[in-house]
Amino acid sequence: MALQNRMNSDQIQALFDRIAPVYDELNTVLSLGQHRIWKQMTVKWSGVKLGDTCLDLCCGSGDIAQMLAEKVGRAGQVYGVDFSSAQLEVARDRAERRCLKPPIQWVESDVLSLPFEDDRFDCATMGYGLRNVLDILRSLKETHRVLKPGATAAILDMHRPSNSLVRSFQQWYLDEVVVPAAQKFGFTEEYAYIAPSLDKFPTGAEQVSFARQAGFSVATHYPIAGGTMGVLVIQKGRR
Ligand SMILES: C[S@@+](CC[C@H](N)C(=O)[O-])C[C@H]1O[C@@H](n2cnc3c(N)ncnc32)[C@H](O)[C@@H]1O
Repeated sequence: MALQNRMNSDQIQALFDRIAPVYDELNTVLSLGQHRIWKQMTVKWSGVKLGDTCLDLCCGSGDIAQMLAEKVGRAGQVYGVDFSSAQLEVARDRAERRCLKPPIQWVESDVLSLPFEDDRFDCATMGYGLRNVLDILRSLKETHRVLKPGATAAILDMHRPSNSLVRSFQQWYLDEVVVPAAQKFGFTEEYAYIAPSLDKFPTGAEQVSFARQAGFSVATHYPIAGGTMGVLVIQKGRR
């Protein structure tokens, strides 16, 4: 059985606490640095602009929140939300070293129950978070609730590609590169969960359907990196 199928919210949180010290390094090695390009695309698709108030959900060590902070400038505001205190500690340290303006507000919370009022944010992002939340529809509904009418969210995650050759390559890469690399840091089980989590993650079309159910008036899913990644771009209707 997939590790994630057996995990509750506390266990998922503990997993991300444990891998926090190596998360960034492993991400960069395992994606050959490409994850930053995919994150930049996500930021662009969120429609962020100067002066915006933005939300980065499941912010982890804060890559995307930092990218948002660069876009909104001194007049803007960025909030990074995650339930792993260890990931937020890394995020805080990294951002402080860069002296970002505006400084990012790091919020320890479950994204399924956000501590923000309705209609607060001009845009939102989520990187590699949707696959990890226990309730995708509820997560999208919460995102919808806190966005202003007309605002956009861009949600990046890994996917199973539809092309069987690319799919075989992805599985080989996970089995022969990702898990052995994680093993060197003592995190075999933590990274072995990726493959089964991809198997049960909704396809792009299914995510679009979830987004519609959550109340978004526009929803499009863009496959990237040969379909091994995808960005769900969703817009809350104007009143
Ligand atoms: C794979 S990491 C992604 C981190 C970062 N966004 C990135 O792209 O590098 C997933 C993050 O989601 C967080 N997470 C998972 N479920 C969550 C939830 N329900 N509420 C808040 N954070 C959650 C984890 O703690 C972890 O930091």
